[in-house]
Amino acid sequence: MGFGQRIARKVLGGTRSGVAADDNPLTQISYDGHGLKTYGQSLDFLRDARFLSAYRRGMDSGHQIMRPKGSRADIGIRWRVQITCWAAHHASRLPGDFVECGVNTGMHSLAICEYVNFNDLDKTFWLFDTFEGIPADQISESEKQWGRSSENANFYPPCYETAVKNFAPFPRPASLKASCPTLCLRCSFPRLLTSRST
Ligand SMILES: C[S@@+](CC[C@H](N)C(=O)[O-])C[C@H]1O[C@@H](n2cnc3c(N)ncnc32)[C@H](O)[C@@H]1O
Repeated sequence: MGFGQRIARKVLGGTRSGVAADDNPLTQISYDGHGLKTYGQSLDFLRDARFLSAYRRGMDSGHQIMRPKGSRADIGIRWRVQITCWAAHHASRLPGDFVECGVNTGMHSLAICEYVNFNDLDKTFWLFDTFEGIPADQISESEKQWGRSSENANFYPPCYETAVKNFAPFPRPASLKASCPTLCLRCSFPRLLTSRST
């Protein structure tokens, strides 16, 4: 019996309910990926064609995160992308624009654009990134010590052109090249920027 099952058995009171813990769906691992395990949770989203298509579009964006250059391997982040798509779906009914800080090739934001039919929304999606990795002067000494600098070479090669190409079918998103200090100022006033730019 795994740690999670022991916890679940404890929470559920073991066999006191009359149901053997191991037969109880709440003790069964339902999702296990990217550092997240769930027990007995609904995974209906994994059968949702709209979500799966959006997920694949993001995964096929040409990124190099946790896989080698040129690979189309699925890095297994469905739960995370589902959360962002769910949030974007609700946010699409609220006033205001969308912004992502740290876009890379658009693994999440492309999935969102497809999932919410972004072209049908009266919104701009502000896409911020250096598109060439974490600025060296923003990596702290302790981060350098545990190898953060190598992320740029391994995961974040220049990807601006790829991002522009990926978002071409969604004319409202604006791919901007900016690093964080500038970016934060702009992000405080996305509406102002939008009205200026149109
Ligand atoms: C983990 S990746 C983001 C992945 C992306 N959200 C996706 O769905 O594929 C982190 C990104 O943040 C960007 N980044 C990190 N620090 C930044 C900064 N100070 N300014 C702009 N972009 C930054 C990197 O270039 C990299 O593309």
